[in-house]
Amino acid sequence: MNLSWPFRSLRQGGGAKSRLIFALDVASVAEVKKYVALLADEVGLFKVGKQLFLHAGPQVVRQIQDQGGQVFLDLKFHDIPRTMAKAGAEATRLGVRMFNVHASGSLEMMRHTLTEVNKVCRAENLRRPKILAVTVLTSLNKDDLKRTGIVTGVENQVVRLAKLAKEAGMDGVVASPLEIVRIRRECGHNFLLVVPGVRSHGESWDDQKRVLTPEEAMRSGADYLVVGKPIRDAADPRAAARQIAKEIEQGCTPPSGRGVRLFRSGASR
Ligand code: C5P
Repeated sequence: MNLSWPFRSLRQGGGAKSRLIFALDVASVAEVKKYVALLADEVGLFKVGKQLFLHAGPQVVRQIQDQGGQVFLDLKFHDIPRTMAKAGAEATRLGVRMFNVHASGSLEMMRHTLTEVNKVCRAENLRRPKILAVTVLTSLNKDDLKRTGIVTGVENQVVRLAKLAKEAGMDGVVASPLEIVRIRRECGHNFLLVVPGVRSHGESWDDQKRVLTPEEAMRSGADYLVVGKPIRDAADPRAAARQIAKEIEQGCTPPSGRGVRLFRSGASR
């Protein structure tokens, strides 16, 4: 059997749970402490978004790290290149493992950020975070784009921005489940796809509109899955995270008698 991928990458990268990102969409540091204590051994990263960051400040990142967790800083930066690059440098100094920028901020903005982050890492001997691009927010539809002068439709714009992000040297993009296959096809294997909007079979979709199961998302080519509510609101969040990790693992197992799909990029790059 061909074990070159994704088995090897899952083993090297800490197993299926390393591909699970828990969205820490909570409003207090007490809740952060509670969930990180519960889940630091069950998930790969904790996603800190605007609400929590503005409530608790950069200290919340250090808090998570002190408790043994790694952070995806989901602030979706968008600014002029110089300002953006300085923000990227500060995210790097905070020690986050991933942060993201809007691809629509321009090729130059993304390139400048990457250059500055690389520079800071060399000068201060820091580990470089993965830099992801946001393409088109899933809350936007064709008409919303049209009103901003973009007439090519959502999917084409997503792909256009994903390719721009790749050209700029970004490590990957945040993608909705329905975008995975096309972005993987257009941007190749060596490009991380971080995917929210996943739900196990039989679970409520909550406010998610485009949903795949964890297994389906991995089979489609996702590298990391972002899950919040189903873990946060579970009676047993650890058990819920373990169940999702199990489904991620299943999604990385070749259907018997068939070859492994070799398109997934390396999460441990
Ligand atoms: O709670 P749930 O599993 O729906 O959380 C998913 C996380 O991913 C949330 O933090 C949400 O803001 C984020 N997200 C999303 N859909 C997108 C982009 C980001 O749900 N298209």
